[in-house]
Amino acid sequence: MFGVRGLLRALRRCSSAPCPKHAPAARLRVREALEARELPVEDVKVQGWVRSVRSQKEVLFLHINDGSSLESLQVVADPSLKYRDLNFGSAVEVQGKLLKSLHQKQNVELKAENIRVVGPCDTVMFPFKPREKHPLEYIRQFPHLRCRTNTLRSLLRVRSEATAAIHSFFQENGYVHIHTPVITSNDCEGGGELFQIETANKVKEPEGESHFFDVPAFLTVSGQLHLEVMAGAFTQVFTFGPTFRAENSQSRRHLSEFYMVEAEVSFTESLQDIMQVIEDLFKTATSTVLSRCPHEVEFFYKYVAPAQKGRLEQMLKNKFLTLSYTEAVDILKRAPQTFTFKPEWGQDLQTEHEKYLVTHCGDVPVFVINYPYDLKPFYMRDNDDGPQHTVAAVDLLVPGVGELCGGSLREERLHFLQSRLQRLGLSDTYQWYLDLRKFGSIPHGGFGMGFERYLQCILGISNIKDVMPFPRFPHSCLL
Ligand code: 4AD
Ligand code: MG
Repeated sequence: MFGVRGLLRALRRCSSAPCPKHAPAARLRVREALEARELPVEDVKVQGWVRSVRSQKEVLFLHINDGSSLESLQVVADPSLKYRDLNFGSAVEVQGKLLKSLHQKQNVELKAENIRVVGPCDTVMFPFKPREKHPLEYIRQFPHLRCRTNTLRSLLRVRSEATAAIHSFFQENGYVHIHTPVITSNDCEGGGELFQIETANKVKEPEGESHFFDVPAFLTVSGQLHLEVMAGAFTQVFTFGPTFRAENSQSRRHLSEFYMVEAEVSFTESLQDIMQVIEDLFKTATSTVLSRCPHEVEFFYKYVAPAQKGRLEQMLKNKFLTLSYTEAVDILKRAPQTFTFKPEWGQDLQTEHEKYLVTHCGDVPVFVINYPYDLKPFYMRDNDDGPQHTVAAVDLLVPGVGELCGGSLREERLHFLQSRLQRLGLSDTYQWYLDLRKFGSIPHGGFGMGFERYLQCILGISNIKDVMPFPRFPHSCLL
């Protein structure tokens, strides 16, 4: 359990026997202090940032927080300990005794014997004010300071727990984690949304020496092709890493740098198997997050997206629905509303279409399967309704966000893949990929889930920039 060792150390030293005079005070994180049950605990030291200061005639109240818990620790002190620098935002070290609190709101408080201001804070210049609710749009302007707000602290803790929950899900289900490369020469999705990389010298002197790599090199748009290599040895593999796409950064659901969770499963002939993994991943990881950081999630439901709580409960309770692409287009064509992009068989589904479909289905996640052959990348498996009519592709659409996951069965038949690559003029580039179909080829499939969109979906956050630790916006301000 979190920090139990620190607390036990403090209790062992201090609660039974009197503390030896020269022993240093036991350092506790705020959460450890809040969880202490055997009180009092003599001579502890807690460090953190001041969240509020309230000075009364007889007593000084502080709340301090060190990021270990959403709740802050109340410190009570003699008003003589109120120094000029002891302000909202300053970093402090408080030494004293942990006591049972007489106030209803908290179990524990720290009776200060000594307060040291470690780092003062200029409250006039500091962009956040105590007890004010700052909107996400406002705090977004301060990417280097916004993690000090309750909103971003909650978000980043959820993000951390969700990362761990996703890893656990795969590890517990027999998947091997693979670090796929960030620098690669493939454009897996064929969309051309690539960032090319070059050494700084080469950019300065384009006519100079040869390229660092012998072939053009890009930041990865997906680890899928590398995962397919590994699925040929481990059967079930996953990766979870940074992904880059040179896409319109003004949108509320696109980032140029984002994290993608990808999985690949061998010996699977059915798209349903892949859809089952997606649904299990979503439900298991989300339930784990809800149980690991209930206060942080509640914070969002209270202050940011009140309707989200019920919506997420519905998502977790119900089986996800499935529509074919053809059915989806029919529904859109019959819709009473006019879309900016007219729905047509053979055209990509736009965000407005995805959102309509989800609402139409009752605000639950919907799998759309079997997309037109020409819309999808070269690696997707041709369905038997063809030739070249539809492929075994799946997108998961979720309320509030639209597309959350994209996946497919992969074309494992050498001659199908060979002729598709030939038509695209990509046979040389993908010789190594064709090899995978020559040596023990297996039916297989997989998917990718955008991690930021996942966080948007569970917390009800409308702008994807607000779920990044460091938003890449505006472009002039890359930290
Ligand atoms: O649908 P996509 O493009 O699928 C792939 O890249 C496959 N190779 C994955 C696989 O099968 N292994 O991307 C997967 C997901 C999307 O559904 C979306 O959630 C997210 O990645 N995504 C983005 N998220 C934020 N910003 C962007 N620019 C994104 N582009 C894709
Ligand atoms: Mg997609």
